[in-house]
Amino acid sequence: MKLVSIRTIDSKGSRLVDPVDPGEARLVDRHAREVRYLRVSLTDRCSMRCTYCMPPQGVEHVPRSEVLSLEEVVEVVAAFARWGVARVRLTGGEPTLRRDLPWLIERLARLQVGETGRALQVVMTTNGERLEALARPLRAAGLSGLSVSLDSLDPERFAAITRRDRLTRVVKGIEAAAEAGFGLKINTVAVRGFNDDELAQLCSFAWERGATPRFIELMPMAGGQLFVPGELMPAAEIRAALAKHFDTELDAEGRPDAPVGPAHYWRSTRGRSAGRRVGIIAAMTENFCASCNRLRVSATGQLHACLARDEAGDLRGALRSGRPGALAAAVAAALGEKRERHAFELDGAGGPRKAMISIGG
Ligand code: 5AD
Ligand code: SF4
Repeated sequence: MKLVSIRTIDSKGSRLVDPVDPGEARLVDRHAREVRYLRVSLTDRCSMRCTYCMPPQGVEHVPRSEVLSLEEVVEVVAAFARWGVARVRLTGGEPTLRRDLPWLIERLARLQVGETGRALQVVMTTNGERLEALARPLRAAGLSGLSVSLDSLDPERFAAITRRDRLTRVVKGIEAAAEAGFGLKINTVAVRGFNDDELAQLCSFAWERGATPRFIELMPMAGGQLFVPGELMPAAEIRAALAKHFDTELDAEGRPDAPVGPAHYWRSTRGRSAGRRVGIIAAMTENFCASCNRLRVSATGQLHACLARDEAGDLRGALRSGRPGALAAAVAAALGEKRERHAFELDGAGGPRKAMISIGG
């Protein structure tokens, strides 16, 4: 590909191609990783209180004036789409707490990726509580994929981990999403001693509803405060637990989470579930940072180059300054800071001070 008008905005070798040449737009960091995927948190609030995500009390929410307006979100995402981002994921907190979500999705789904003529893909991660009513309008607005968090199918366990007794609502939400035609993933944080005995059941639950189950290793966010080392269930242990119920092989497609995602997929080879897939996201024991393709924007418009680091660039300040080029400069600077890999350690050290609720996974 011809690369023209590359402006090296910082001295560290990250490149942000000049947006006046959108046909050649690319975001490439100094480890030669290209950013094609953006996660945007719409709020730091949530209707649940998952024990590994939020402390039980004393959560301080940022004032609304500090949160990006939906118009500002459109402006930020439009810039990233011009620079080659092909997929945006809305997260939280809980993104469905934002009013006018269908309006936002409609606007985002109309954006074009660079000069390719392809539409930006818009997906969302949610706790599933509000999907029964929202699935259809969100689908109609142009949302194409949903990831729903679900850590247990046992009502008591569900209530214990989320501190809310809402399993039935979430299951209804998942079913409404399946009916509305979403590409659907069900994300489960695998926690040893908590849900390690129901991973196979969670797979069957997802498969019966046309969804792809995925298991996530517990990560030590928030300075490790909410992390209990013995609760981390390594990917190898997740695979061993699944092997008691299913025969699986590594999916030939490897990582169909286009363009690339952190999940490795396994495919069931026998019985009723033959051909069904299950993903494992092993940030702790099987590092995937070398293929990282993402940036994250917090609800307050801070650009986090890494989930596991606290450094962030101030996109909100750049936007609200009204200065031409300020947004591009802030993005280039944060991209230049993107580290080679996270520093999570198995004892809970090495992670960021920020809590998961502030950045949405
Ligand atoms: N480690 C791994 N996953 C987490 N999530 C929240 N906190 C953690 C953590 N500490 C998951 C949620 C949800 C997604 C947004 O992130 O369960 O699936
Ligand atoms: Fe809410 Fe998700 Fe955090 Fe649970 S993990 S409290 S559902 S943001």
